[in-house]
Amino acid sequence: MVNTYFRHIPNSYIRTDSNFADTMKDKLKILEEKIAGAKLLGGIKRIEAQHKKGKMTARERVHFLMDEGSFEEIGMLVTHRATDFGIDKEKYPGDGVVTGFGTVNGRLVYVYAQDFTVFGGSLSETHAKKICRIMDLAMQNGAPVIGLNDSGGARIQEGVVSLGGYADIFYRNTLASGVIPQISAIMGPCAGGAVYSPAITDFIMMVENASYMFVTGPNVVKTVTHEEVTSEELGGASTHATKSGVTHFTAPNELDCINYIKKILGYIPQNCEDQPPVVAYEDADEMRPALNTIIPSNPNQPYDMKDVISECLDADSFFEVHKDFAENIVVGFARLAGRSIGIVANQPAYLAGVLDIHASTKAARFVRFCDCFNIPLLVFEDVPGFLPGTDQEWNGIIANGAKLLYAFCEATVPRITVITRKAYGGAYDVMNSKHIGADMNYAWPSAEIAVMGAKGAAEIIFKKEIAEAKDPETKLKEKELEFNELFANPYKAAEHGYVDEVIKPENTRRRLIASFKMLENKVAKLPRKKHGNIPL
Ligand code: HXC
Repeated sequence: MVNTYFRHIPNSYIRTDSNFADTMKDKLKILEEKIAGAKLLGGIKRIEAQHKKGKMTARERVHFLMDEGSFEEIGMLVTHRATDFGIDKEKYPGDGVVTGFGTVNGRLVYVYAQDFTVFGGSLSETHAKKICRIMDLAMQNGAPVIGLNDSGGARIQEGVVSLGGYADIFYRNTLASGVIPQISAIMGPCAGGAVYSPAITDFIMMVENASYMFVTGPNVVKTVTHEEVTSEELGGASTHATKSGVTHFTAPNELDCINYIKKILGYIPQNCEDQPPVVAYEDADEMRPALNTIIPSNPNQPYDMKDVISECLDADSFFEVHKDFAENIVVGFARLAGRSIGIVANQPAYLAGVLDIHASTKAARFVRFCDCFNIPLLVFEDVPGFLPGTDQEWNGIIANGAKLLYAFCEATVPRITVITRKAYGGAYDVMNSKHIGADMNYAWPSAEIAVMGAKGAAEIIFKKEIAEAKDPETKLKEKELEFNELFANPYKAAEHGYVDEVIKPENTRRRLIASFKMLENKVAKLPRKKHGNIPL
């Protein structure tokens, strides 16, 4: 009888005898046959089907991710042990997930890649155990975990055992959070449990028009809510990049997606005790005269904060995160004199850079990532305040805005703010002010630091005077001017030491390099506690 173990291995490999052999030569042959069987994943037909969809197999993805020849597989011969619904007659070595370790650009990483050709990459008890094993190794040895996800969720034939497997992974994701970086690439349909592990990890990236994330697919949605929606609309890359903010990056194809993973790894340390990598940097002329002309003379005219970022940071080093979500705030990694920096910047070119719910949660999560992993924070501030209105209030701008406030307050990495223009209201406090622990606060001469804009302020505090004036409009203008003279500048804040120095824009890069160098050995500790209670 043919050993069921070899059921999916081509005929030439099928042995009809046992796993035992007398000589080493024969023993090696058996091993080679088993390895060859495992490399066939769920079989040639399914591999072809995967390729036809423009998708790679799990092994191909791992091959492109890791440095050549560095990948060492663990658990290649693991099979499931379920028996219900006749599944015991269908076993595939590896059980639908390729796991192991190796290097990316010379640095150790642990990886798991789900294999859609085996039961749709669904998660069985043993599949989950393999993932847990590499997560445990990653934690013990302090290196990032990368998950290449392509899974139909819990393996339906295994029932609660596979739910338990998911919970084992979620638990480890949570314990590993803030200890080692965790990156999730979504490279196919990911349903049910397959979305929650990525959701706990630090960064998610999705392949456009080829990957989906949803708790339940369109069919279940139709049954429960009578909504008709396509997979793409419900949980495609564009939906999660722009509407939900679940994904941080979208890539046009799998190779670009893998390259995003490599790029992120280049900015971050191996673990929370490690420092981010430093790239070679040659001292040059750090003056940036172009910065002197970026701020428009009309204070209500927009400009692109990304121009400020690219002038101040090392050339081509800015790597934006969450680019298409809450564009009124810009976050991302960059390098300053070769060192990794996390950037958080209001974007006056989008909704005037106002802080709303999405902007607050987007920035808060990024601040916390940087703080977990010793990446100093640089804030560029031009913010008219929090967005008013029923939509924002009813959806919780108070609790959500507080997340950003909390995240900055808690961060102990070196933190510097540059106020380029507006720093109004509560947003002045929130955007990394010195009062909440920023180390240095700089302002350009164009900075306006006040409780609110001149018109609104004049209308409130001079209400009576304006109403009683012969010409209320002229009076309002007069009072606006008065208010502007007093507050629409950085000098009151500088007098109080809230701003450490008012600097010429062209000096900003030079200042930042010197200041971050000065803060390199910063030691700051939070009060002893179990953990804080961020307003979730
Ligand atoms: C077992 C599965 C499977 C699953 C897919 N397959 N999902 N096997 N368990 N969850 C198998 C199929 O039987 C098929 O086997 C192969 O994988 C490919 O599936 P297709 O449906 O042919 O592929 P496609 O049309 O591309 O659709 C992919 C899919 C769909 C969108 C993922 O298969 C699907 O909707 N699957 C079920 C999703 C789901 O509801 N999962 C359970 C969620 S509950 P053959 O032999 O034909 O190749 C859950 C709870 C955890 O996860 C909660 C924790 C918080």
